[in-house]
Amino acid sequence: MKAIRFDRFGGPEELKLVEMPDPEPGPGDVLIEVHAVSVVPGDWKLRKGLLTGMFPVRPPKVPGRDGAGIVRAVGADVSGFAPGDRVCFTCQHVDQGSYARLAARPADDVVPMPEGFGFIEAAAVMHAGVCAWIAVVETAGVRAGDRVLVHAAAGAIGGMAVQLCKHLGAEVTGTCSARNRDHVAALGCDRIVPYDEVAFESEVSGLDVVIDLVGGGVHNRSYGVLRPGGMLVWLIAEPFEDRSAGLDIEVRQAMILDNREILSAVVGLAEAGHLRPLVSRVLPLDRAAEAHRILEAGENTRGRLVLDTQRLAS
Ligand SMILES: NC(=O)c1ccc[n+]([C@@H]2O[C@H](COP(=O)([O-])OP(=O)(O)OC[C@H]3O[C@@H](n4cnc5c(N)ncnc54)[C@H](OP(=O)(O)O)[C@@H]3O)[C@@H](O)[C@H]2O)c1
Repeated sequence: MKAIRFDRFGGPEELKLVEMPDPEPGPGDVLIEVHAVSVVPGDWKLRKGLLTGMFPVRPPKVPGRDGAGIVRAVGADVSGFAPGDRVCFTCQHVDQGSYARLAARPADDVVPMPEGFGFIEAAAVMHAGVCAWIAVVETAGVRAGDRVLVHAAAGAIGGMAVQLCKHLGAEVTGTCSARNRDHVAALGCDRIVPYDEVAFESEVSGLDVVIDLVGGGVHNRSYGVLRPGGMLVWLIAEPFEDRSAGLDIEVRQAMILDNREILSAVVGLAEAGHLRPLVSRVLPLDRAAEAHRILEAGENTRGRLVLDTQRLAS
């Protein structure tokens, strides 16, 4: 099969289109013909060797944290899937990933695609939706009436988090660059703070929850906008200093541990129209290096850049 692989840590040029043996599904696995895969920030950070402390990955490595495609075969112990089913799935960073024409995934990491979705849209909601679900529902426990600030609301996960918070009945403020104001408004944000024009601290205060997808100085400044007893939920982005000691603020990491229930919840919400897929751009499989350059330069915005794995530019 064709796949994108890096054989050593380094720049985007390390991503090469290679021919690899087709994966063999084990008894509990589903073999998927992959049609679309999200390119996520963790993919380039991993390729650069920045995440080895967290994920003990050694090249050669096929990146890719999720995907959508068609079931080609199922292992002997798998029930509920059959060849021809349209599915989406997640991979872990420590596994061989999904920048490939085929992927063998444990059945627990596979769910039916949202009804009415194409492969590109299905891939775009998978990892982003799962991260948003874990941050907003599992970690923060956002409820109707909560006042929530979502940082990086124009990003892939932020866009899903805004939609999820609105679905749960929260009042949502989102930060984004001024050029993305209309995009974030269309996601349902009640209030938008353009971070390149205004400091969010001057616009909001007394909040119940902050979802921080930026880290660094944004994390440090977020304590001040929470009410006593409020919660600051973070995903690993820029490093920051936990300053919660002595403050009546709970700081929690959203631990991104996928499971079938979460994948199914995300698919259900997408199918019901509560999570609109956000696709910034689509590139063919062999332009994965360009995709990484775009993300690494901070030039991707308004959703997921998705690779069309069945298409090649050359
Ligand atoms: N295991 C984990 O902990 C885990 C899992 C998934 C993701 N993450 C991390 O979570 C972060 C977000 O992921 P993603 O996939 O949503 O990224 P993304 O789609 O690349 O979004 C990044 C967004 O950040 C926004 N941004 C940059 N600086 C900002 C600031 N000062 N204030 C507000 N927004 C700002 C940008 O908004 P504009 O475009 O408007 O400038 C951009 O849209 C990444 O750093 C990723 O590595 C961690």
